[in-house]
Amino acid sequence: MSKALPKNFANQLLLWYNDHKRNLPWRLDPQPYNVWLSEIILQQTRVSQGLPYYQRFVEKYPNVQALASAPIQEVMRLWQGLGYYSRARNLHACAKKICDEHQGVFPTTFEALKKLPGIGDYTAAAIASICFKEVVAVVDGNVYRVLARTFGIDTDINSPKAKKEFFSLANTLISRESPDDYNQAVMEFGALHCTPQNPKCSTCPLGKICVAKQKDLQSLLPVKEKKVKVRKRYFYYVVRKQAQSLAMKRRESKDIWHSLYDFDLHESQKPLDEATLAQKVGQIKLSWSPEYKHVLTHQIIFARFVLLEEKSKRKDLEYFSLKKVAELPKPVLISRYLKAEGFLK
Ligand code: ADE
Ligand code: SF4
Repeated sequence: MSKALPKNFANQLLLWYNDHKRNLPWRLDPQPYNVWLSEIILQQTRVSQGLPYYQRFVEKYPNVQALASAPIQEVMRLWQGLGYYSRARNLHACAKKICDEHQGVFPTTFEALKKLPGIGDYTAAAIASICFKEVVAVVDGNVYRVLARTFGIDTDINSPKAKKEFFSLANTLISRESPDDYNQAVMEFGALHCTPQNPKCSTCPLGKICVAKQKDLQSLLPVKEKKVKVRKRYFYYVVRKQAQSLAMKRRESKDIWHSLYDFDLHESQKPLDEATLAQKVGQIKLSWSPEYKHVLTHQIIFARFVLLEEKSKRKDLEYFSLKKVAELPKPVLISRYLKAEGFLK
């Protein structure tokens, strides 16, 4: 690559960013707490969907101390719907660690930030560059796409070597004067201009240097091989109701939805017929709900529920009033069922 190219790339993106950047709440005064929170949320979802979550979090927890002293249950509840619940647990653990071991002040370098729970290369680079102007490149899905297209790179972005390759290229392209704006510019450009479908090539500031545009490869880049195929799981939930309370269980196993609440679960690798289910539950004539389909990144869950109204509480189960049930952190699947049955508003 000639010397002029990186400078040209960064300058074009910075000019574009200046004209097109969105007015996001953490951009005016990028404090580490706000940037950290926003980046953790935005790893899960796009800006339009993540923004209300961000706003609820900063409203409830205006600073890292407030988040650190919140009950984990409440944090999980606020995270509900974003998925990948280990991120919410790490968010809380990270806030605690910053308060307990760093006097409530975020570390200021890429390397030091990476030592915190839930902070990997991506988040550490975002905080270090946006808040402290460290010259370290951020690499996310947007960056993969913009670089793969502009420079015509066909490395599979899911392959082990991809991260190193793109990180290294991104670090040769980054603006030394404005690493903060540069990193946000590439992500913003990927989100708004060089989009996965129908990139706006005809009005693109990188049009003159873009390999994908010249060779008409926009729809082929970046290369992304399919990862592991999705696993199908069949969940049969027994929902026990006594008076106006429901029995709910906190999930403790090393599986999806750790520390969220669901019901008594019978899982199968294949769909089960009603006779088999009756046997498993130990009751005949059960009236199972229709199937709920719930799609996760690497698995699809097919769930059916049966409601058992019982006269007395079972000793081995924990019961919650409907008001409490509403407050518990739950998988979206469980909330869907509770709403459909009129247990939740
Ligand atoms: N997506 C994730 N983080 C972002 C940021 N800081 N700016 C624009 N898009 C983003
Ligand atoms: Fe993306 Fe098209 Fe611009 Fe190339 S010309 S960077 S593919 S929008």
